[in-house]
Amino acid sequence: MKTILSTVAIAAMVALTGLATAPHVAAHANATGIVKERMDNFKASQGHLKAISRLLGSAEFDEITSRASAMREWGVAMPAAFPEGSGGAPSDAAPAIWTDNAGFVTAAGNHVAALDELIAAAEAGDAGAVGNAFKAVAGTCKACHMKYRQF
Ligand code: HEC
Repeated sequence: MKTILSTVAIAAMVALTGLATAPHVAAHANATGIVKERMDNFKASQGHLKAISRLLGSAEFDEITSRASAMREWGVAMPAAFPEGSGGAPSDAAPAIWTDNAGFVTAAGNHVAALDELIAAAEAGDAGAVGNAFKAVAGTCKACHMKYRQF
């Protein structure tokens, strides 16, 4: 029962984390350059997050580690993917990224730190710690979106 409940909670969290809705996908079809690149990277990260959510409770620690490492790489690159002036349609980047750039960089750093925890837990083969770290990672996606992504 406990497992079922926490799986539902995690599924809900993944859903909140930033599933692009259909109109968004259409609006983003004409994104180019660095905006398109970062959208693709976010989508890839979302795919990894979903894949990891399905592996929670399993012993697939190598796959969790490699997916979390790919997410971490993008987390490190994230701040540089938002050069000044790269907001505006079709981007959903909020102006706060540039008016409060230190906060944005911190939000990306928190994401990387949470992924470090997830990688360490997976490398240690500790499924319980993986579950907790996963929730923390998803929380850092949401925290950044609430401040720095506009819908
Ligand atoms: C440090 C801030 C930050 C973090 C952390 C972050 N995001 Fe985002 N995310 C953004 C911003 C800003 C955009 C809007 C980018 C744009 O449209 O130019 C975005 C856009 C997206 C998109 C839409 C991409 C598209 O096609 O338009 C998805 C999906 C997404 N994020 C998922 C995630 C997931 C999943 C995580 C965590 C694993 C995450 N994000 C972590 C800031 C962040």
